Amino acid sequence: MKKKVYLTRTIPEPALSILSKECDIVVNKKPSPPTKKEIITNIRNMDAILCTLSDRIDGEVMDAAGSNLKVISSYSTGYDHIDIEEANRRGIYVTFTSDILAEATADLTFALILSTARRVVEADKFVRKKHWKFGWTPNLFLGSDVNGMTLGIFGLGSIGAAVARRATGFNMKILYYNRNRVVHQLNHPIANYVDINRLLKESDFLSIHATLNKDSFHFFNEVNFRKMKKTAFLINTSRGQIIYERDLIKALKNKWISGAALDVYEKEPISSSNPLLRMKNVIILPHIGSATYQVRSKMARVAAENLLNVLKGIEPLYVVNPHLKKM
Ligand code: DGY
Repeated sequence: MKKKVYLTRTIPEPALSILSKECDIVVNKKPSPPTKKEIITNIRNMDAILCTLSDRIDGEVMDAAGSNLKVISSYSTGYDHIDIEEANRRGIYVTFTSDILAEATADLTFALILSTARRVVEADKFVRKKHWKFGWTPNLFLGSDVNGMTLGIFGLGSIGAAVARRATGFNMKILYYNRNRVVHQLNHPIANYVDINRLLKESDFLSIHATLNKDSFHFFNEVNFRKMKKTAFLINTSRGQIIYERDLIKALKNKWISGAALDVYEKEPISSSNPLLRMKNVIILPHIGSATYQVRSKMARVAAENLLNVLKGIEPLYVVNPHLKKM
């Protein structure tokens, strides 16, 4: 009998063709993520679920699946939306798409660094609104240098390192802070390790590339914003909850920092009443760090293959909990 798989979103090819050849698949065809109730209804008796970072997969969902569920394959690099302990307890494998998105996310990070420094989004809106009256103007849209400035990287994993490589082309001084100093310093000698206070105090551009965990949750809060340079820009392409948004809004209003360029938020989609939306010195993107045709398609293949491998008893490419070794 064919295995049963529930996909919470229609993800790019080749995922559907790979999976539908070997399994019976149920796909949420709506453009929106399923509600928890819909997940609970659809996961019943499934052998596998292919989810995205918008789906919270906790013990209740796993219980609803019943004992057939062998694998939760996430179409994402981050897996903070899945309760790993609950999965371990039930012997369910959790797989992810690892760092396939590192270079694309680093590209977008650099686009944000340049755009926030040179006020690209603001200037574009200015022209479209027909406010450009006098041709070249000596003090129109003055911004900040990027060349030669100091880049601070909070979390030097594969994305942080890819950002650091790009920064060398701009002659930037590169500092980083990471919980695990030694491994990362050996791997990425171009960036210099500093303690967190130096990172906050010395960075002209501070770019967040840490994973979301209990230490990074709301790390960027009032106390730490007050340590940053008044001219600094904060860039976040990792997870929104690493920033305490309430305090970021305060920091921007009170000019403790100069601006922010964000791809991720505490709550996604961002609420229409969020004051960040009305701030000129903030760039707001809709969580598109990995959004290139090439990367999303590679991620789709890997998410499908991870899932099938577990169902066939083969070691998947990227597994969060390999210690289960029940395959
Ligand atoms: C991820 O995969 O974790 C990114 O945030 C979205 O692609």
